[in-house]
Amino acid sequence: MRIGVATETAEHEARVALAPISAARFVRAGIDVLVESGAGARAFFDDAAYRDAGAQIAPDAAAVYADADILLKVAAPSPAEIESLRAGQVLIAVLQPLTSPELVSALAERGVTAFSLDAIPRIARAQPMDVLSSQASLAGYKAAVMAADTLGKHLPMMTTAAGTMPPARGLVLGAGVAGLQAIATGRRLGAVMSAFDVRPAVKEQVQSLGATFIEDEELQRAQTETAGGYAREQTADERARAQELVHRHVGASDFVITTALVPGRPAPRLVTREMVEDMQPGSVIIDLAAETGGNCELTAPGETIVHQGVIINGPINVPSSMPVHASLMFSRNAQSFLDLLIRDGEIVLDRDDEILRDSLITHGGEVTHAAAREAIGAA
Ligand code: NAI
Repeated sequence: MRIGVATETAEHEARVALAPISAARFVRAGIDVLVESGAGARAFFDDAAYRDAGAQIAPDAAAVYADADILLKVAAPSPAEIESLRAGQVLIAVLQPLTSPELVSALAERGVTAFSLDAIPRIARAQPMDVLSSQASLAGYKAAVMAADTLGKHLPMMTTAAGTMPPARGLVLGAGVAGLQAIATGRRLGAVMSAFDVRPAVKEQVQSLGATFIEDEELQRAQTETAGGYAREQTADERARAQELVHRHVGASDFVITTALVPGRPAPRLVTREMVEDMQPGSVIIDLAAETGGNCELTAPGETIVHQGVIINGPINVPSSMPVHASLMFSRNAQSFLDLLIRDGEIVLDRDDEILRDSLITHGGEVTHAAAREAIGAA
């Protein structure tokens, strides 16, 4: 049994799917690990660290693809990488199957057994494998740091001989994993934080972090959480009420961090042009939903723009800006997943196991994931 790890080829991707510490664990369990030379370099793990862990170093990606039984990746493979995969080979990566119908079809055509780590069910047993959570919490932390760095004010209240300066006010829209971490970090930096989410269940979590939960009784009564713990899309009426509520609070904030996502759908538009124009010049918006279209109407993915003095940053792949910890966490998640998939040194595709069944996207030339199949049909 051999696990292969090649250098990530996506633009601006600095993470590596397996850190030396996890490689060592597999080697100790009698599983070979083959790592492309330089695969960990951008996350500051050099070839020597992998060699010390007992991994073998391959000269190039082709050698990894040729010799591995399981390919472990962070990002989805490029078309060229898909060409290097062979029938029966196992691929484990973040494939975003609901929004990548072409990729899923290509993997099925190739006969690859592909698992998507973002399709793992959000049940307690799966928490150690949850890359969405580990990477989102890093993104939430970094968003607060970015807001602090961009804002022309300091965050805590400061009393000096030159006078007393009030604390900055931060608003987080979407209080899931990333949002809660943004609140916690904003608080640690001294800001007065508040937050809004469509799922009433998060109110207590927001308050336990010392932030104010902004609410509207009508909205709180609406059932906006799906059985899987995710938000559902709002109705037109709910959207209008939420907009009014958010509008009032955006205008009173020095910085706004938006993290709202609905799985498989474009990001909900929460901050309109009008709301931005009601903010004070020098205020900051960090839009963590930029990759799926942005929560702010004016966000330009991957860019920082200034609109009437308001600075709007829509960063892409924020976890990759902290490649060391992002890779270590991703690697731990992947390791837990592989512990479930590999039994006594063999791959055991147990379709009765909810985690393996739900995260399996393609196998034996078929698209096995029902929602991914639907997405292909709709494309
Ligand atoms: P996410 O990244 O899909 O969405 C982020 C947040 O945006 C969510 O809290 C969502 O409710 C909110 N949102 C969506 N549409 C919105 C709108 N129109 N306005 C305002 N907010 C909106 O969600 P994430 O952070 O990945 O996880 C969601 C929840 O799932 C967690 O807070 C947790 O309760 C649960 N979860 C459970 C896990 C487990 O048991 N294994 C692991 C991770 C999360």
